[in-house]
Amino acid sequence: MRTFKTRAIVAGAAVLALTGAGIAPAAAGTSHGDAKVPVAKGYGGAVSTVDLDATKAGIEVLRKGGNAVDAAVAAAATLGVTEPFSAGIGGGGFFVYYNARSGKVSTIDGRETAPRSATDQLFVDPATGLPLAFNDARGSGLSVGTPGTPLTWQRALDKWGTWSLRKALKPAIKVADKGFLVDATFASQVNENKALFGDFVPTRELYLPGGSAPAVGSVFTNPDMADTYQQIADRGVRTIYGGQLGKEIVEAVQHPPVAPETTRNVRAGDLSIRDLANYKAPLREPTRVRYHGLDVFSMGPPSSGGSTVGEILNILEASDTPDETSVLHAYIEAASLAFADRNRYVGDSDFVDVPLRQLLSQGFADERACLIDPARALPKPLAPGVPDGRYSGCGQQAAKETGKQNDGQSTTHLTTSDRWGNVVSYTLTIEATGGSGIVVPGRGFLLNNELTDFNFTPTQGDAFDPNLPGPNKRPRSSMSPTIVLKNGKPFVALGSPGGATIIGTVSQTLVNRVDLDMTLPEALAAPRVSARNAVTQAEPAFIASPVGQALVAKQHVFSSVAEIGAATAIEFGRHGFVTSVAEPTRRGGGSAMVAWPVK
Ligand code: GLY
Repeated sequence: MRTFKTRAIVAGAAVLALTGAGIAPAAAGTSHGDAKVPVAKGYGGAVSTVDLDATKAGIEVLRKGGNAVDAAVAAAATLGVTEPFSAGIGGGGFFVYYNARSGKVSTIDGRETAPRSATDQLFVDPATGLPLAFNDARGSGLSVGTPGTPLTWQRALDKWGTWSLRKALKPAIKVADKGFLVDATFASQVNENKALFGDFVPTRELYLPGGSAPAVGSVFTNPDMADTYQQIADRGVRTIYGGQLGKEIVEAVQHPPVAPETTRNVRAGDLSIRDLANYKAPLREPTRVRYHGLDVFSMGPPSSGGSTVGEILNILEASDTPDETSVLHAYIEAASLAFADRNRYVGDSDFVDVPLRQLLSQGFADERACLIDPARALPKPLAPGVPDGRYSGCGQQAAKETGKQNDGQSTTHLTTSDRWGNVVSYTLTIEATGGSGIVVPGRGFLLNNELTDFNFTPTQGDAFDPNLPGPNKRPRSSMSPTIVLKNGKPFVALGSPGGATIIGTVSQTLVNRVDLDMTLPEALAAPRVSARNAVTQAEPAFIASPVGQALVAKQHVFSSVAEIGAATAIEFGRHGFVTSVAEPTRRGGGSAMVAWPVK
């Protein structure tokens, strides 16, 4: 790891954020009880999520002898109650696991699938031949893919857990039954969805009681969700994958429960019980790159997370970065180049030929790094490269096309570890914040709109678009649940929500920690930049910082966005010492805990 004397310029904002309440950074947020704090240190394993109840659920599992996988499932199920607009059993996700005994990293692909009847015209209006507007596609049965989250939980527990699903669901059932305190994030997520939620009877009954969002500070209960979890506990996940609950999901997709007075043209979907019965959550090889002597593992296709984070780091590895400005300059250029390649080459590898090995190769990254001008930003958008295994100089470039931008704040990430040294990095989602807007009647959970992560029409000009809809296909994701090993042992685990910005949040946090030698809390809190080739967004504090201004002087163009991401992470010290880290302020701040805290 390298230290730059100037790195405090960017980390300064992080330190300010941590010291905002007048607490010294070293002590800020250190947890000795079960309060909501962004940093906790100690032993016995750690949990970090965006939400206090979910983190508590995971920590209780660890304290009762469960492992990191048991804790991850308990925390995720609780997020399905308290963070229902970002994730839940109506959606999907990617589960990355480090097994301390074998030293191996494995992944479960719980991504939603399109119905077997889907074609590349899924989101083309037959009446006009034009692609549907995003919101028309989103608030419909068309956007709903077969949920993968319940089977992900069952598979993870079967393979690596020590608790049954029945036991792991108990904390979430309790929270759904007894209720939780509505915070500003929950209320604002309902308010931003008021029109959509109001158009579906079960959704407005649940989330707009009396016509408005639940008040901040009120207690929100979801007895239907508690009953649904109990049914899954009693009957197993087969109740979804071909059973009674599956039939109810299919009914809601095929006949969306639209309010009679709505003016929205809500299209029906074609998901069938056979689609649900055939669903698989396969184990997939993780992506892996070497970065400054570390091994960075993440999620491969259908996610573009692992390949794009990996390519960014490989390009940086090949770049000359003597100071902080040059690190971030190269980082933005690397991310722009890697996004051009992602958009051209990455889709569901069960259906398209993704040149994954080449995208992750140092030879390809060297060619891409050769294009970077240390003196000034390249004019965007950049063209994709040609990952064909034959590399020299700055390589060939393919025809330029940019692809669609997906940068919402949706999705959630959680990170867990245990006393045995196992680690989970798990990102899960229902796609947009609020998903499709359709609550399954009487069931208390929202269905995803994950299929809108497909491109609606070709984005790559004359070249093949790897991310068009197709039967049983999984839409490309940006989710990047990541585990970094140092000498074969866990060093850092992390991930974030945020649509396509996830890739930048994860890679920039690693760059902050490894290249800029920030502490992990500083690395998470530091102002963010998200370069995605067609656009480079940055938080206002990043643009205003001296390094941001130095980058503007190098002709980088930033579009300002209030917040990027909501990361959670754990760093692993010696002899089982762990530092659990969540956001100090973004999305209302997250919740980090350890099983056995120390000062
Ligand atoms: N729906 C967000 C993602 O998969 O990247």
